[in-house]
Amino acid sequence: MARVSAVPVEVLLSKRVQEMVLNGEEPPPPYVSRDDEPAQHDPDAFCSHVPLIDFGLLSSPSTDEQKQQELEKLGSALSAWGCFQAINHGIPSSVLDEIRQVAREFFEQPMEQKCKISKGLKEFEGYGADPVPEQGQSLDWSDRLFLDVYPPERKKFKLWPENPPSFRGVLEEYTVEMRKLTERISRVMAKSLNLEENCFLNQFGEGALLQARFNYYSPCQRPDLILGLKPHADGSGYTLILQDDVEGLQIHHHGNWFTVPTIPHALVVLMADQMEIMTNGVFRSPVHRVLTNSERERISIAMFYTPEPDKEIGPEDGLVNEKQPKLYKKMKGYADTHWEYYQRGMRAIHIAKV
Ligand code: OGA
Ligand code: NI
Repeated sequence: MARVSAVPVEVLLSKRVQEMVLNGEEPPPPYVSRDDEPAQHDPDAFCSHVPLIDFGLLSSPSTDEQKQQELEKLGSALSAWGCFQAINHGIPSSVLDEIRQVAREFFEQPMEQKCKISKGLKEFEGYGADPVPEQGQSLDWSDRLFLDVYPPERKKFKLWPENPPSFRGVLEEYTVEMRKLTERISRVMAKSLNLEENCFLNQFGEGALLQARFNYYSPCQRPDLILGLKPHADGSGYTLILQDDVEGLQIHHHGNWFTVPTIPHALVVLMADQMEIMTNGVFRSPVHRVLTNSERERISIAMFYTPEPDKEIGPEDGLVNEKQPKLYKKMKGYADTHWEYYQRGMRAIHIAKV
């Protein structure tokens, strides 16, 4: 929803949401954005929920039949919803607890400490809000720390927090685990579509990016009006989200918003636009948003997994046939185009359509 504010957006964005909340300030107008359309009462959608995939069943000692069943469940989850929650995914719970803990300790520091790694208004990496959106766009009720974590030469340690002192080691360990998990997920997704198991990994390339976004959603007095994160689809290949114990993430499905329940050590796996392109539209890149909460703050850690920037991606040959003609073109540098549209509050996927 476009609203004009008396305070220039650059001035608002130079302030952290957490700071406004601590000062007891009322949310200023550009943050007002919730504009729900009436829910669609589709009876099928109504009794459904975000799918759960048990990765334990996808590996031995499960029987072939169990593996096959879980693979089919994964394929249908991604065609219908474009997302699922992964349990028994193999990442030790201690690693997940540690990354949540260092994220919390970072955000709980005094503002002067965090601002040592503030990003410029136009930059992506560092602490702050998104780069300034185009005029008329609403702002998200959140503060973020965004860091490139893979390949190693993209790490800019001067933007990594010095406090808590364990932050760096924990994030590096988390990155190693995320790399392993993206390999596994990319293979099982290919298998669920009866494709050669390395096909997506080959499209992502050896130098595929991992970028971590730590999201801090401060409590908000007007959850009825203000969103933590506006509706959007991600521009990556796919995204892995670790939530804390406060709900807020919602997926748009069959005209309704579905809350993703919090499950202690589960990871939310969300398809993004580039997987929609690579699967020729078989897997959906779902629109999602984050609600605000009047009582509690919420922390999430999103890891964006994106094909190597200079590599061309396109629909897998095995997914193009007479029944399903080619829907998307081969593309390079999709993430940049996605970002230009995102700032205008729009999706970009149409530019990749044939
Ligand atoms: C994102 C995102 C969801 C969340 O960072 O793109 O969708 O739960 N985050 O914070
Ligand atoms: Ni997202």
